Amino acid sequence: MIKFHSDIDVTVDVSRIREIINDIQSDPMGGWYDLPETYDHAEFDKIQATAKQIQNNSKYLVCIGIGGSYLGHRALIDALQPKSPTKILYAGNSLSTRELNCLLDTLGDSDFSINVISKSGTTTEPAVAFRLLKAKLQEKYGNKASERIFATTDARKGALYEEAVAEGYARFVVPDNIGGRYSVLTAAGLLPLAVAGVNIDQLMSGAATERAANLDNSESAAIRYATMRADLLKKNYDVEILASFEPCMQYFEEWCKQLFGESEGKDKQGIFPTSVIYTTDLHSLGQYLQDGRRNIFETMLRFSEEGAPAVTVPQLAKDLDGLKYLEGKTLDFLNTKALEATVAAHRDGGIPVSEITIPTLDEKSLGALVYFFELSCALSAKLSGVNPFDQPGVEAYKRNMFHLLGKPGF
Ligand code: PA5
Repeated sequence: MIKFHSDIDVTVDVSRIREIINDIQSDPMGGWYDLPETYDHAEFDKIQATAKQIQNNSKYLVCIGIGGSYLGHRALIDALQPKSPTKILYAGNSLSTRELNCLLDTLGDSDFSINVISKSGTTTEPAVAFRLLKAKLQEKYGNKASERIFATTDARKGALYEEAVAEGYARFVVPDNIGGRYSVLTAAGLLPLAVAGVNIDQLMSGAATERAANLDNSESAAIRYATMRADLLKKNYDVEILASFEPCMQYFEEWCKQLFGESEGKDKQGIFPTSVIYTTDLHSLGQYLQDGRRNIFETMLRFSEEGAPAVTVPQLAKDLDGLKYLEGKTLDFLNTKALEATVAAHRDGGIPVSEITIPTLDEKSLGALVYFFELSCALSAKLSGVNPFDQPGVEAYKRNMFHLLGKPGF
């Protein structure tokens, strides 16, 4: 379903890949690998029913979370732009006063609910946002407020879990064996996605198809992409630019940056993941890419079908703008030519460029793409000798901040 093309020779070490896949399946944090087949169907149905309930009584659902408890669903909602009576708003992904005031202005007197998402249940940014928004909910709905709070957290522990049990909030689970940045296909992503109007059945089915495409196939797109990344890193290409010609993919790229950055940047190693949206960024970073340092490789995300109503350059009586040669051509044709021109220019400039092709911008394809990146990321981290499932570096700023804020014990 997902295709990978590269001009770079990629030789897969089949036995090493098999070993890594076995490792992933037996890793205590490898639960995402089989998730498209093994997910909890009873919870999935509860998510669908809860989504309908929220759509019936809320103009807004405020999703509170950060990192893996935020970026995955935001990425898919932005990319798919689904329709729903309930609009998703986001909180708890920064400590900005302006952002929070802006959110409160948008909420105004409207009916709203909260989905607070934190696997650990102890992350400061979402915990503070939850406290603030819970107060607003209580002010508006009194003792009925708790009926509008949906908590997605660990199955058994953490401050959020304990509060949810004590206050009787509806609870959803991020399974023990799935870490934050691999959790988009769990309730952490699925509840906001279902409320936003995304067809989560199709999403899971796309992920299952991509999982199946990797079983017993050592030449799959994900395996070749992961192998290429690890090979390029050995040759000192330590910056990857993920590029899309669709602005709606900006947050998908943000999710990829988190997935790869937190999974691979360890032990003073790793590829620095960054992203661009073209053609916009050809007019800003284009010069550096064409002529700057040669430690960068580029991965283009492209769709084989446009999937949106065509827009055609109109015919005009006069050719004052000199665009007669484009009359009758679609915008998608222009975008495709821009992509081909960019690939050729960057290859000429000495950048290794590869392409990931996705059928179209729909739930099934994006479900497959999520799984593709999760698998590629875990494989390429392991090929480079790092653990893709921990994030010891993230703890450093947290400890400092707790100390500066006077948290007991820090
Ligand atoms: O991938 C990760 O583990 C992190 O990005 C977490 O998702 C992030 O730190 C939020 O953690 P939590 O869901 O525990 O609040």
